[in-house]
Amino acid sequence: MKNVLVTGGTGLLGKEVVDQLLALNYDVTVLTSKKNTSVPAGVKLVKGDMASDTGLAEATRDADVVIHCASNPKDTQSVDIKGTCNLLDAIDKDKTLHFIYISIINVDKSDYAYYQTKIKVERMIAGSGIPFSVLRTTQFHNYVLSMLKTFDKKNGAIIVPDGMHFQSIEVKEAAALLVDLAQKEPVGLLRGVGGPELLKFEEMAKTYLKVLGRNDELKIKSIQDEEYDRYRSENNIWPTNSYGHVTWEAFLRHKLAS
Ligand SMILES: NC(=O)c1ccc[n+]([C@@H]2O[C@H](COP(=O)([O-])OP(=O)(O)OC[C@H]3O[C@@H](n4cnc5c(N)ncnc54)[C@H](OP(=O)(O)O)[C@@H]3O)[C@@H](O)[C@H]2O)c1
Repeated sequence: MKNVLVTGGTGLLGKEVVDQLLALNYDVTVLTSKKNTSVPAGVKLVKGDMASDTGLAEATRDADVVIHCASNPKDTQSVDIKGTCNLLDAIDKDKTLHFIYISIINVDKSDYAYYQTKIKVERMIAGSGIPFSVLRTTQFHNYVLSMLKTFDKKNGAIIVPDGMHFQSIEVKEAAALLVDLAQKEPVGLLRGVGGPELLKFEEMAKTYLKVLGRNDELKIKSIQDEEYDRYRSENNIWPTNSYGHVTWEAFLRHKLAS
């Protein structure tokens, strides 16, 4: 039976990875920097911090496979860069046979600081000598929903920027891809997987209002912003490899009902 360490196993993606590994009877270890957190029964929880290099020897000790989901966009230098470096150093290269990392499509085609970090991390992993797989996906549905909510002032009208589009993917389906990789030989860099639909942001907003049963007016406005430009370009979609069955509407119906 393989032992899998999931970094970020308490986060949005990592939790799904952990649940799916447990369902397949893997031995699962989760690293957490939180003082208090809970994990499902049967998971070995190791307290530690990638940034300050604590707990990593214990967390990696039994790992045949590492699925690296930990990240902190607000402190990428300490957590993503230094933290990944510490994690790779802690790994026993004779024991760990597969290091799996979740990245984002087209990180190599953007100057955005977080994407630059992801590229550096990808390169660190590729240069570590540990057999690896890097999976680049599009944004998760949850990410698009969080963004949409920032435009929802709940005052009878929603104003969204023009020209944005997404091919977002359900986080459980992204997790399933990582778990599938854990069962196979390392494949190196997988450049792109996107969700099942390519949608304009305003269409996504319309569906959001429909699912909530609201009649708010939807306005589309030309708003200049570097962040929005990232989602106006072709760089956040991967139409040649769409994956998964959970559409935006299906995701919202489930998410907003709970
Ligand atoms: N969101 C998207 O649309 C999207 C799309 C593609 C790829 N991704 C990638 O998917 C990955 C996971 O994203 P997510 O949305 O699941 O993130 P998340 O919910 O914010 O989870 C981040 C995880 O990182 C862990 N972490 C943070 N600092 C740490 C530290 N110093 N030491 C150890 N662990 C630490 C946290 O664990 P504790 O708090 O328990 O320490 C937490 O479990 C990221 O690499 C992200 O770039 C995200």
